Amino acid sequence: MHSIIDRRKVNKQIAELRDKYGNDRSALMPILQDLQEIYGYLPNVVMQETAHALGIHPVEVEGVASFYSFFRTKEKQGKYVIRLCQTISCDLAGKQNVARQLENELGIKFGETTKDGKFTLEYTNCLGMCDQGPALMINDRLFAKVDVEKASQIIADCRRDFLKSDFPEVVPSNVKKAGPILDHGIKATAPLKKALNMKRSEIIGVIRESGLKGRGGAGFPTAVKWQLAGAARGEKKYIVCNADEGEPGTFKDRMLLYEQTDLLIDGMTIGAYAIGASKGFIYLRGEYLYLKKYLQKALEARRSENLLGKNILTKENFNFDIEIRMGAGAYVCGEETALIESLEGYRGEPRNRPPFPVDTGFQGNPTIVNNVETFIDAALIISKGADWFSKYGTDKSRGMKIFSVSGDCKRPGIYELPFGIKVSELLQEVGGENAKAVQIGGASGNCVARQEFHRTIAYEDIGSGGSIIVFGPDTDMLRVAKNFLEFFVEESCGQCTPCRNGNPKLLEGIEMLEHGRCSVTYLNELKKLGETIQLSSKCGLGQSSPNAFLSIVNNFKPEILGRIPETD
Ligand SMILES: Cc1cc2nc3c(=O)[nH]c(=O)nc-3n(C[C@H](O)[C@H](O)[C@H](O)COP(=O)(O)O)c2cc1C
Ligand code: SF4
Repeated sequence: MHSIIDRRKVNKQIAELRDKYGNDRSALMPILQDLQEIYGYLPNVVMQETAHALGIHPVEVEGVASFYSFFRTKEKQGKYVIRLCQTISCDLAGKQNVARQLENELGIKFGETTKDGKFTLEYTNCLGMCDQGPALMINDRLFAKVDVEKASQIIADCRRDFLKSDFPEVVPSNVKKAGPILDHGIKATAPLKKALNMKRSEIIGVIRESGLKGRGGAGFPTAVKWQLAGAARGEKKYIVCNADEGEPGTFKDRMLLYEQTDLLIDGMTIGAYAIGASKGFIYLRGEYLYLKKYLQKALEARRSENLLGKNILTKENFNFDIEIRMGAGAYVCGEETALIESLEGYRGEPRNRPPFPVDTGFQGNPTIVNNVETFIDAALIISKGADWFSKYGTDKSRGMKIFSVSGDCKRPGIYELPFGIKVSELLQEVGGENAKAVQIGGASGNCVARQEFHRTIAYEDIGSGGSIIVFGPDTDMLRVAKNFLEFFVEESCGQCTPCRNGNPKLLEGIEMLEHGRCSVTYLNELKKLGETIQLSSKCGLGQSSPNAFLSIVNNFKPEILGRIPETD
């Protein structure tokens, strides 16, 4: 039974949190996150008092709390919340056995809490540990390469309240190949110092000349974004670092946030100077909570050196500071307008575009949203010049790219490689020559079969935000398609019909295929449905959700049709 909650105490706590995070609606998420930390869940009283304090309707608060999978509104979380990654790399590495073992050890199913209030068992999507799966997270601690025995040991350690993390500090970076970006050899803060002696237009000019395109996946030219935000009218302007990294198979930002922190902050600060922004956010995915303290320390150190704050490096009237905001387990919040909604304290539902964030972003003001890697590249370009960057890669996809490689290969990890590399060359590099297929660009990317391994990874051929998942010769491709669709069904924000209702239909079709109950005619209908979802969905999530299904159906037809009974 839940204990009675003292309203006065709740109000005092909320008042303290308002002092910390502010009094407007954009403070809602961090306030709820801290309150959940105190109470183990979000009791009704707590949500009601938060609503009153921020001057919004309690239903609005409930709406937000119910949107994000890391908030709990019904049941108190256990002392140890175990989140097992269910994404494809961990799935192929043996997640199912670990799941069964956890259920057996604890006597509960996923989604439940033990009667003694000690354990909650949940699935989660991609922990950013794809190179070391199966992975699980207990509160903010991560565990890699978990097998049945290790799972049992972890439970025993929790029962004795003596939980030893696999990684006392942060997850090892696992960089297998560094290049000019990761081995840049420059002193952090040098790019910022140089930029502050340049004109704003000059900074954007150098970025334009370098040909830098956004590293988050869509490949939008960074200079155009900065130019538009700089020219847009607004009382305040904002810089947002998209550190949501939720795309299955992506874990490069995890490493960059830790190993290139100062360069990232340099990049954000240079962006702020170039467009005239005074405030920045790092929107960090909830699964990377363990990085928050580390990043906060780095920001603090920069403030003490006048690299953040007022009149940065004595540059008069250049005031800029950065706040870290935590995501709460919603993949769609990686989409830039959903991210902004989340920062403003709303459900992470993508907005219609136009207007674009460069014009109407955070609280209606001009806002730049860029990926972690993009800011780092921008800082290096300012320091080393446009030519240094653009001599790598192809004409349309310039520069080096950081890839996260997982799945059936000998050397999973992080690789810095030039854009334009052939899929076959990449596979050789990572020890995945036997691959039957490669998923390029995560769940929303494309599944490339062996006959297409001569193709290149570049925006003009196969674009990618950096996720590479290798499928060995024995991989059941229908299982892959199913895993990705389950992911999209779960992560759809539900705003528009094609994505909300279409993806479950595709999933149903896959289940029929699994059981040999899907006719060829029905499969063709499903393909048409997939194409309709791509065309008619509102945001990139829906638009790309059928990609893997369609490429698997097209490339592995004999394997998939082999399951259909001949009589059908
Ligand atoms: C469903 C969805 C999820 C996304 N997740 C991320 C993400 O985790 N990180 C990221 O940088 N971009 C992500 N994006 C792309 C962003 O919307 C946006 O294009 C990007 O942050 C812009 O930065 P860039 O120009 O530096 O690439 C996502 C897009 C969609 C549709
Ligand atoms: S496509 Fe999907 S995720 Fe995007 S707005 Fe529509 S329902 Fe939401």
